[in-house]
Amino acid sequence: MLASADRVLVLTGAGISAESGVPTFRGAQGLWNDLRPEELATPEAFRRDPRQVWEWYGWRRELVAACRPNPGHTALASWLDERASGACLATQNVDGLHTRAAEDLGAVADAGPDEWASEVSGTIPDTQRDHTGHRTILELHGSLFRARCTRCGWEGPHRDLVNAASRDTLPACRHCKGLLRPAVVWYGEMLPPRVVAAAFQWARSADAALVVGTSALVHPAASLPLETLYRGGTIVEVNVEPTELTDRAAVSLRGPAGTVLPLLLGMGETPRV
Ligand code: OAD
Repeated sequence: MLASADRVLVLTGAGISAESGVPTFRGAQGLWNDLRPEELATPEAFRRDPRQVWEWYGWRRELVAACRPNPGHTALASWLDERASGACLATQNVDGLHTRAAEDLGAVADAGPDEWASEVSGTIPDTQRDHTGHRTILELHGSLFRARCTRCGWEGPHRDLVNAASRDTLPACRHCKGLLRPAVVWYGEMLPPRVVAAAFQWARSADAALVVGTSALVHPAASLPLETLYRGGTIVEVNVEPTELTDRAAVSLRGPAGTVLPLLLGMGETPRV
């Protein structure tokens, strides 16, 4: 099904990074100083105490930076590169591991140029390649490694170590010196409109949706494969458990993404029957 599809939308979630050891949002691993993400990942928390929120994101950046892309990310990066303009990757993950997997292969990937999702820039993302020729990954929930200015709206890559010693040492905008914030979607916030629009545009014109490691509970991301289905396309799912989408999928492959994707996408050994 995937091989015969002209256009494939790939949607990934937290499950594809599980085998890389990325700590989950929920559960004991995701706790920091006894605080839950719901108490920190909000605009209110940032207004109240930006130092504490940046300290938490600095900690998460370091945790994720110590993780490596797993064979699932690598197989997908390689397959996307081979398919060139015949596939688009949208992810709910903020860990940047898809981009790193592509870079490890020498295949360029980019989670968007400077000011991509910024309201001030007016640029519309190209879902295939950006102006530098990098494959664009649609990061629906933003990225731990991007930041946005709370004053002028600039948004772009931001990988610096965070110094959260005091309010004065927090990351500042290089254009207007305003306070930067992590460019991630917080509880109660909208998803970046242009990124979501580009993903839906793709979903509506795709012949197949490959859905990997997502519970398919959080909308609007979970609606993307349904858009493909409603226009006559097929859903292929990879997950360790059944999900909301399983009954709608033409094929649902039960297993860890790090094992299933290399086999499915033609990179692994032939499975023994
Ligand atoms: P969830 O934590 O809701 O679901 C993870 C899915 O991955 C589950 O369906 C698991 O069965 C599956 N899974 C676990 N290990 C796997 C493996 N090794 N291989 C394949 N599948 C595996 O994560 P998401 O669906 O990504 O949003 O959650 C969506 C959004 O909910 C997140 O992006 C976040 C959260 O609220 C925001 O932060 C805005």
